[in-house]
Amino acid sequence: MPDQNLILNVRNLTKRFPGVVALNNVQLKLHEGEFLSLIGENGAGKSTLMKILAGVQLQDEGTVEVSGQTVRMDSVKTSQAHGVALIHQELNLSENLSIAANIFLGREPTTTGFLNKRVIHQEASRFLGMVGLDIDPKTLAGDLSIGQQQLVEIAKALSIDARILIMDEPTSSLSAGESERLFEVIADLRQRGVSIIYISHRLAEVKMLSDRVTIFRDGEYVGDLVGDEITHDAMVKHMVGRDISQYYSHEPNQTGDAILEVANLRTQANPDHELSFKIMQGEIVGISGLVGAGRTEMLDALFGVAPAISGTIKVQGCPVTITSPKDAIALGLALVPEDRKGQGLILPMSVKENTSLASLKTHAISRIFRNSEKESQDTDLMIKRLRTKTPNADQVVGFLSGGNQQKVVLGKWLATDPTLLLLDEPTRGIDIGAKQEIYQLMEELAAQGMAVLFVSSELEEIIGMSDRTIVMHEGRITGEISREDLTEESIMHLATGGDHQ
Ligand SMILES: Nc1ncnc2c1ncn2[C@@H]1O[C@H](COP(=O)(O)OP(=O)(O)OP(=O)(O)O)[C@@H](O)[C@H]1O
Ligand SMILES: [Mg+2]
Repeated sequence: MPDQNLILNVRNLTKRFPGVVALNNVQLKLHEGEFLSLIGENGAGKSTLMKILAGVQLQDEGTVEVSGQTVRMDSVKTSQAHGVALIHQELNLSENLSIAANIFLGREPTTTGFLNKRVIHQEASRFLGMVGLDIDPKTLAGDLSIGQQQLVEIAKALSIDARILIMDEPTSSLSAGESERLFEVIADLRQRGVSIIYISHRLAEVKMLSDRVTIFRDGEYVGDLVGDEITHDAMVKHMVGRDISQYYSHEPNQTGDAILEVANLRTQANPDHELSFKIMQGEIVGISGLVGAGRTEMLDALFGVAPAISGTIKVQGCPVTITSPKDAIALGLALVPEDRKGQGLILPMSVKENTSLASLKTHAISRIFRNSEKESQDTDLMIKRLRTKTPNADQVVGFLSGGNQQKVVLGKWLATDPTLLLLDEPTRGIDIGAKQEIYQLMEELAAQGMAVLFVSSELEEIIGMSDRTIVMHEGRITGEISREDLTEESIMHLATGGDHQ
């Protein structure tokens, strides 16, 4: 594409944080009406560059040009005035404000200087209509699903008349249906001439959507792929700088006694259904189903986050009562939750402290002294294995990139040496290189005789990693599929409520 159509031109841009060069002399070009994806491993610098473009952070060196004019993006207002809107990786809506208030936050339309609620609601409805969201603008943002919040953020971008819309991992917590909806809205935005920068670890959607792909690695610009060059293999190779096979393929283990036996379990979320199943030593069991099937709720019941209403749970043959996560941990269970930001981490604490949190018992050499050396060793091992990008184990977790924070949560639970590991969407937001490591860790744990129960919305992951898959639909288990019979069709049949053949 000719460079005179450049709407955005980032040149020689550098951004340093204490101990990290987040961006080192990078470049990025966006043409009018173009769909550009920015990809790279966790910590590559993607979100940092987007925050600079949005006026949230300021670069140390380098220039940003919008339509040929150099702009100092010193505030969100400046950035918006140049037509740039950023939808953050961690969504940014104020949960206790209405949709309308969120859309017009800080720049409410006024008539004769007074706030006009009616106009705000009318205008909000108009923008909601443009993203196909048929919801009362008075609804509180906190009452919306993540997908709906995402669409509200886009409505907000439309309301500031964004010409450059940046989306940082918009689909990482969306259901397949919500993602489809988002892609339709994006297609519509492109019709209106909006240029888009899109960040995602889902390479299939990157390939489907992009005109061009820019790749960063460790804070450096690696290159661009255009048109036919955008293949899965080319993207992976540029991102990680080496060849890796797409999926780690799992070798079934010799299974032993039952680690977990669940009979007639009724969860708080779906009290009308009873869940019964078993997990054996050395087994990796996947839980599949559509969003809302009750998978997370089942894990929450097992781990005591939302204790079951009735039913029996046996751990290693003994009937147990689990009324809190503390009970569950004492029984050798570990849960890596889906919402890692809310449940998994203490952001102001260090990587090391977070990693050791759940395994304090193993590290305690007496009641008073903690075995700091063992903590350090375990943390360093996890950092190495999961390829967590952090200057050192003492870095504050809140300063890590989104995907690297997730790696810390995983490491924290893996370090507890659980007998039963519960994982909820373990690779969400995780880059492709680290995914392989997580699969390999699951494999190793199973080979050591642990049991792994994991929820995943990625069918390839379920098919690639599970010995057996439990499929749920609307709060109940619709069937189990053994490894030999696992196909996308057999899973979808049960996930949509079909009978077990
Ligand atoms: N406020 C900060 N203080 C210190 N370091 C930071 C800060 N923000 C980002 N970093 C570091 O800068 C690097 C780039 O982070 P960034 O969030 O841009 O990565 P990313 O490419 O978006 O990764 P992910 O795919 O995990 O979201 C990381 O090493 C991160 O830890
Ligand atoms: Mg990021």
